[in-house]
Amino acid sequence: MGCLSLLSTIFVLLFLLMVPINGKPRVPALFFFGDSTVDVGNNNYLPTFVKANYLPYGRDFVNHYPTGRFSNGKVISDFASEIFGFTSYQPAYLSLYIKGKNILNGANFASAGSGYHDSTAKLFHSLSLSQQLEHYKEYQKDLMKIAGRTDALSIINGALYMVGFGSGDILLNYYLNPLLRLVYTSDQFTDILVQNYVDFIQNLYAQGARKIAVKTLTAIGCLPAAITVFDSAYSNTCVVELNNVALSCNQKLNTTSVNLRKMLPGLNLALLDGYQPLYNLVTKPSQYGFTETRNGCFGTSFLEKTSTSFNNKNTFIKLCPNASKYVFWDALHLSETAVKFVASEMFSNAISLIP
Ligand SMILES: *[C@@H]1O[C@H](CO)[C@@H](O)[C@H](O)[C@H]1NC(C)=O
Ligand SMILES: *[C@@H]1O[C@H](CO)[C@@H](O)[C@H](O)[C@H]1NC(C)=O
Repeated sequence: MGCLSLLSTIFVLLFLLMVPINGKPRVPALFFFGDSTVDVGNNNYLPTFVKANYLPYGRDFVNHYPTGRFSNGKVISDFASEIFGFTSYQPAYLSLYIKGKNILNGANFASAGSGYHDSTAKLFHSLSLSQQLEHYKEYQKDLMKIAGRTDALSIINGALYMVGFGSGDILLNYYLNPLLRLVYTSDQFTDILVQNYVDFIQNLYAQGARKIAVKTLTAIGCLPAAITVFDSAYSNTCVVELNNVALSCNQKLNTTSVNLRKMLPGLNLALLDGYQPLYNLVTKPSQYGFTETRNGCFGTSFLEKTSTSFNNKNTFIKLCPNASKYVFWDALHLSETAVKFVASEMFSNAISLIP
């Protein structure tokens, strides 16, 4: 890389991550907890193989830079920042950008591979729920120092907290881990996930959170990896059993949230439907301008059927020239165009719930 282009990369990164806010965001700060759907690079700093800090990840991101986001471009948290009126993205908590005034707009604690069940995060050496919460507590101490106690408290109470876990617990842990399946039925397992969800919301509330938006589980049975591994009928369509487990878990999240709202006074708790928007994209792609729903643009042989070439690590890799009409970027993650659609659907239904 030439010196100039290195400089411009640094410049763009600084601009993206450090520029002060000029606009008027709807909330003073955003905080993100979750998995790869909202991680913006925390896993870059962890001893995990679940990373996206190399091309072609980020190929369509600003300056074509791989930041650790699991997409060709922006992820849900980026669109959330934009939708809520921020002009810069909340930085990954483990990154170098967590410094001084950069932390005033919030921070991102999410970690790809994480889940409501600690064993999910352990499996991938990701940050568990409790580790993400510990980081948030450390963050609060720094915020008090930088903003002063009064301002810090108004940021903490006024901020929107976005939570997105659960899909990995089912698809990447429960269904691939025979030990879990011997011990729990899927119904029992999702009960545990929902109990951990309740504990997590109570902990956030105890830390001062009053506006929380929870993304429900996605249509996991429609992810290319799920179809490849679990489509026993070779129908090449969404795996019904997996989708049903996600729907049942979402139903439990929904009823439990009704109780949480009663239990925790002053809490504004909104559920964002993470299921239906993706399900619609996969089952009616042409209605939304998509043409490819079965294969990710960036595919590997383990998780996908079609593979056309070798990379230098002797694994099959294929890469499409333009991901904009693909629902999926890789076998587990959405393309930026699909993320944009899902985010706008999720938030358009929820923005009134988050005053
Ligand atoms: C939660 O359930 C209510 C009805 O009980 C329904 O109107 C609402 O759409 C559900 N929300 C989500 C996000 O599933
Ligand atoms: C991909 O295709 C879309 C239209 O189909 C176009 O708008 C976009 O610029 C293309 N992206 C790249 C990187 O070529």
